[in-house]
Amino acid sequence: MAHSKTDGEGLERDRTVASVVAPCIDSTAGNHVLICNDDHACIADRLRENGAAVTSWWRLATSVHGARPWPLVDGYTAAVIRLPRDKGAFEFALHAACSVLPPSAPVWVVGANGEGIKSASRPMSTVLEGVETIDTRKHCRVLRGTTPIDGTGLRKTLMDWASEVALDIGDVRTTHTVFPGVFAKGRLDPATALLLDAMEPPTAGSKVLDYACGVGVIGGWLLRQDSTLDLTQLDADAVSAKAASINVHRATTVVGASLSALPPDALFDCIVSNPPIHVGTSRDYAVLRNLVAMSPKRLKPKGRLWIVVQRQAHVEPLLRSRFGRVAVVAEDRRFRVWLAS
Ligand SMILES: C[S@@+](CC[C@H](N)C(=O)[O-])C[C@H]1O[C@@H](n2cnc3c(N)ncnc32)[C@H](O)[C@@H]1O
Repeated sequence: MAHSKTDGEGLERDRTVASVVAPCIDSTAGNHVLICNDDHACIADRLRENGAAVTSWWRLATSVHGARPWPLVDGYTAAVIRLPRDKGAFEFALHAACSVLPPSAPVWVVGANGEGIKSASRPMSTVLEGVETIDTRKHCRVLRGTTPIDGTGLRKTLMDWASEVALDIGDVRTTHTVFPGVFAKGRLDPATALLLDAMEPPTAGSKVLDYACGVGVIGGWLLRQDSTLDLTQLDADAVSAKAASINVHRATTVVGASLSALPPDALFDCIVSNPPIHVGTSRDYAVLRNLVAMSPKRLKPKGRLWIVVQRQAHVEPLLRSRFGRVAVVAEDRRFRVWLAS
């Protein structure tokens, strides 16, 4: 499968953003800076080079670092927030950072123009005082405000962000818990719908992995069909994983960015996935490639991999290089469901 031309663009952008924000972090930052959503740790590295004491909070795990759904209280004196792509995720990150800062602490927000940083001041002004743009360079923008004196209006815990949405699969309606920034706002995605419709139910008692589980749509549906399944769900987003653990509480839920996040001896009869094919706004097939390459080692003999991907993702050569049998079991105008065993 060809590498996407956009692979690695995210890292370049993060380096540029870090080079713009680092000179803005002055002595008002105090002695312990919380860095939020800095996925490649570019901002943290820059600030450390400048002698600052920094701690990162990531909601998204990578192969290099883990993630947690909410930052720990740890005596922070300031925060720097890397603008996330999703507006709801930004508001969530703002409140999360403010919830672990003292009053009047500075908060810097940085992002590239193409990421929506120009509209960041409005949500910032709902929680921070004195919000202003303090630098614009290299198609990026840095804004700064300070935490409110009395903390009014802050939603201070993860569960303050939970909401319930209806999930309709076929003619069955359930409700489940979602948080800001989760995939498809927790609704049924068309690709997931095609996959669920095409999938043969795993045999009773099977060990099943829902890889890139989001809020648990696939795993929840599988367990509703057959409660004897031994289900594991994995997602890189710690907030999605938290929702999945609430929605599908009988499953084991793991936060991680690849199959390596699972115990080394974890083997499955079936791996099922609607894998991510974007990083930020760029198309990126790295997770899909990695999943297909690593799945055979995680499947028992005769184990099966079910994935749904966009038609233009040329996954077939890679599937054929790793699996004995490969077939398209369903397709529509946009997506294909592949079964490999
Ligand atoms: C296309 S969504 C599918 C969500 C869910 N399975 C569904 O069908 O509604 C992909 C999910 O992959 C997660 N993700 C992103 N990078 C990942 C990675 N490296 N490993 C595992 N999950 C990842 C995202 O957080 C997102 O929840």
